[in-house]
Amino acid sequence: MTVLVTGATGKVGSQVLAELGRRDVEARAASRSSCPPFDWQNPHGWEEALLGIDKVFIVLPGGDDGHRSVRGLGDGAVRFLDVLERSSVKRVVLMTALGMEHAPETVDQRRLELRVQASSLDWTIVRPNWFHQNVTEGPLQDIAAAGAGTLRLPVAQAAVSFVDTRDIAAVVTEALIVDGHAGNEYALTGPDSLTFHELAALTAGTGIGVESYEAVSDSEFKRFALELSWDAEYIDTLLGLFSTIANGYAASTTTDVADVLGRSARTFADFAGVGAVRSQ
Ligand SMILES: NC(=O)c1ccc[n+]([C@@H]2O[C@H](COP(=O)([O-])OP(=O)(O)OC[C@H]3O[C@@H](n4cnc5c(N)ncnc54)[C@H](OP(=O)(O)O)[C@@H]3O)[C@@H](O)[C@H]2O)c1
Repeated sequence: MTVLVTGATGKVGSQVLAELGRRDVEARAASRSSCPPFDWQNPHGWEEALLGIDKVFIVLPGGDDGHRSVRGLGDGAVRFLDVLERSSVKRVVLMTALGMEHAPETVDQRRLELRVQASSLDWTIVRPNWFHQNVTEGPLQDIAAAGAGTLRLPVAQAAVSFVDTRDIAAVVTEALIVDGHAGNEYALTGPDSLTFHELAALTAGTGIGVESYEAVSDSEFKRFALELSWDAEYIDTLLGLFSTIANGYAASTTTDVADVLGRSARTFADFAGVGAVRSQ
């Protein structure tokens, strides 16, 4: 069995590759920097990347690498499904984001979900909440670093049930290599929720880089992010996500990680190394 892992250098794809390796499953990395290169905007490398592949993990970039808008990549990914259906691939696991089932079809990731569900392949969709690793590898890290350790976001008291990319990767791997997940949609969260004030209290003094938290207005956040040369469309996407958090939609927890893995999901305290840390 060989698995093609898209987004292979990213926060989740890299963990999926690691987890497949731990489980002795052959995997091939796919991204613009892989060999051969794989680009959602350029179908030329796709058939070569799929030679000898049985299963595929699909994730579209969110724009965190480079803080740029990635709108439009979904069209390429939808076309990739046509190629997949003509290939040796039998199973696909797609990762989008929590709540994506409520998004309109004009949203790339929702259009891709619907295309996957309409395909002839065995499919599983995982929709994770915000990652723990956003504070070490993602946009929250960059905001905190630019604020000398103070994370400033347009969210006051609302909580988020953050989830660990290692748990997401473990669920993705299970769905790829074990039978019984076809047709399932998983909403992946951590076991508890915390506000950004609580998050900062846990990370302060750990060396993670977030020492304190301050809620700001949308316009203050936008001004700050523009000063960091972030793309305006990417900032607007983030503001939409923060508004979802502020309205309480990212707070609830599910048991899907535990149900699939047979163990509890990592807490943010586990991730920050201030609780009972589980082994990798
Ligand atoms: N951050 C969160 O909290 C969160 C929560 C829920 C869902 N999500 C979803 O997670 C996804 C992003 O995953 P991630 O955070 O693991 O990614 P990431 O760390 O931002 O990495 C992006 C990956 O995509 C590749 N890539 C970028 N542009 C590409 C292109 N044109 N063609 C092919 N590959 C390309 C990059 O590699 P190369 O540069 O080598 O191409 C890299 O491997 C998004 O769909 C987002 O909606 C994120």
